[in-house]
Amino acid sequence: MQDAPVIPVIVLNDVAHAVPMARALLAGGIRMLEITLRTPQALACIEAIAREVPDAVVGAGTVRSKADAQAAASAGARFAVSPGYTSAVGQACRDAGLALLPGVATGGEIMAACEDGYTELKFFPAVQAGGVAMLKAWAGPFFDVKFCPTGGITLQNAPDFLALKNVVCVGGSWLVPSGTAEQGDWGRVTRLANETRGLGGFGR
Ligand code: 3PG
Repeated sequence: MQDAPVIPVIVLNDVAHAVPMARALLAGGIRMLEITLRTPQALACIEAIAREVPDAVVGAGTVRSKADAQAAASAGARFAVSPGYTSAVGQACRDAGLALLPGVATGGEIMAACEDGYTELKFFPAVQAGGVAMLKAWAGPFFDVKFCPTGGITLQNAPDFLALKNVVCVGGSWLVPSGTAEQGDWGRVTRLANETRGLGGFGR
């Protein structure tokens, strides 16, 4: 979370796109890559990046079960991101040796994640579930919790989130717009990644 202001949320449909995508993001200064387990090719994409792009830190997104956590770890993922939180997923990630960024959208979920030792959480879906106002409200009771808002974040609204004391970084798919990989437009991905420098926070 402290490496860069944005964790890119990536959906890949073709394993041939994985390595050029990772290299394009790295060229733009983003090395933490969340490959979502939403396509049949996702695990092979994680494997390819882990093997061929050692400077990238590849993780698995959309981790919803013990099986997802085990498969992600076997593929070489170094971290996991989940859209919600259950203790079972937390335990599975610990057993698999995966750092987990657990998703939360309610006070109850925050409390469950904290009980299991997680105090850096993904707020998902951030804009749809209350956005900046929700994070400001949580800063009271959950004063010791930090968030990575994800869902509806754009280059335009990211500064509003990053200005909050309880936000460390944001997540978003805008760095890798759908269709970009199919078009092989890696230059666009690097340009979008470079734009995030304006958000500050690299190596924060
Ligand atoms: C997701 O898991 O789909 C992410 O939250 C991405 O959301 P976004 O497409 O609104 O950035």
